[in-house]
Amino acid sequence: MRKVGIIGVGEYLPKRILTNADLEKMVDTSDEWITTRTGIKERRLAAKNEATSDLAIKAAKHALLDAQLNPKDLDLIIVATITPDMSFPSVACLLQNAFSAKKAVCFDISAACAGFVYAITIAQQFISRAIFKNALVVGAETLSSITDWKDRNTCVLFGDGAGAAVLSEVSSGGILSTYLGSDGSQAPLLMLPAGGSRNPATHETVDKRLHYIKMEGNELFKIAVMAMTEAAKTALKQAGLKCQDIDLVIPHQANMRIIMAMAKKLNLAPEKIYLNIAKYGNMSSASTATALCEAVKEGRIKKGDIVLLDAFGAGLVWGACVIKW
Ligand code: ACO
Repeated sequence: MRKVGIIGVGEYLPKRILTNADLEKMVDTSDEWITTRTGIKERRLAAKNEATSDLAIKAAKHALLDAQLNPKDLDLIIVATITPDMSFPSVACLLQNAFSAKKAVCFDISAACAGFVYAITIAQQFISRAIFKNALVVGAETLSSITDWKDRNTCVLFGDGAGAAVLSEVSSGGILSTYLGSDGSQAPLLMLPAGGSRNPATHETVDKRLHYIKMEGNELFKIAVMAMTEAAKTALKQAGLKCQDIDLVIPHQANMRIIMAMAKKLNLAPEKIYLNIAKYGNMSSASTATALCEAVKEGRIKKGDIVLLDAFGAGLVWGACVIKW
């Protein structure tokens, strides 16, 4: 089996910033409530003419430059997203066209906030078995397009953005282990009820606001802490490592309190956790992807470091990945 590593990272965040103070003017909320309950101070919103593929292309461009890889050499493009430009074709195919990456096999995956970890795991399988050489993995979302801006329970949480990674064979280190889990019995806790084949779009579905995220936040909170803790432990065990061996955790950024509860259960010091939730909120698959990129660019991850990616989201799905940088 070939060793597989991340050889380049990139991100793109839309320019428009929506602060907690802005939200105070839109719904019955306060900066104090949002900050203490979630850790979020502001989030980015895509422009009217920006779709998920536009964000994904910009993030991918940075990752390809960072990896010094010609897009023509890409064998695989996977985009993790729950907000594709349209049901089909896939965002990955739109990326292929933008980069003229003609030989790349392209598809999207739907694994919500764990999408980036799922996509890395899939790409790693192809490369480690020598089926493909170079893969582009992107987590990209325009959650603002499925957010109910009249629902204070959810609209304060989400934002838009994209992060990307290029995976290839490496001579040392790389991905040491990956672990994925799912539990469809809890699907109703977090869903977008309409717009699919169950409830195709009608005037009624629009009037009932069924094209927006519906979430049982409180229930999810407890499950998220448990699932992310178990995912971390299992992935570390598979890599033959212990919690003390971790240099930096890149968690999904849904809620600061979920992240800190997980860190406490794993006995990890707060300085070992990378956070960008205050700036961007929850960007689903783009959260871990942008956090990884920013941690690398800020010098928080150095060669030889042990990095843990850990995520949880709608499905329910979760996953973790241990990487020696
Ligand atoms: N401003 C002010 N008050 C609010 C707001 C708001 N924006 N939102 C809710 N409240 C109120 C509620 O109405 C409730 O009031 P009540 O007690 O009078 O009924 C009170 O605050 C407490 O509400 P809870 O829902 O219990 O608040 P909680 O502390 O659980 O925080 C939150 C809510 C932030 C959503 C939290 O539960 C959470 O982060 N859950 C996990 C989300 C998650 O991990 N999702 C999965 C990933 S996302 C994806 O896959 C797309």
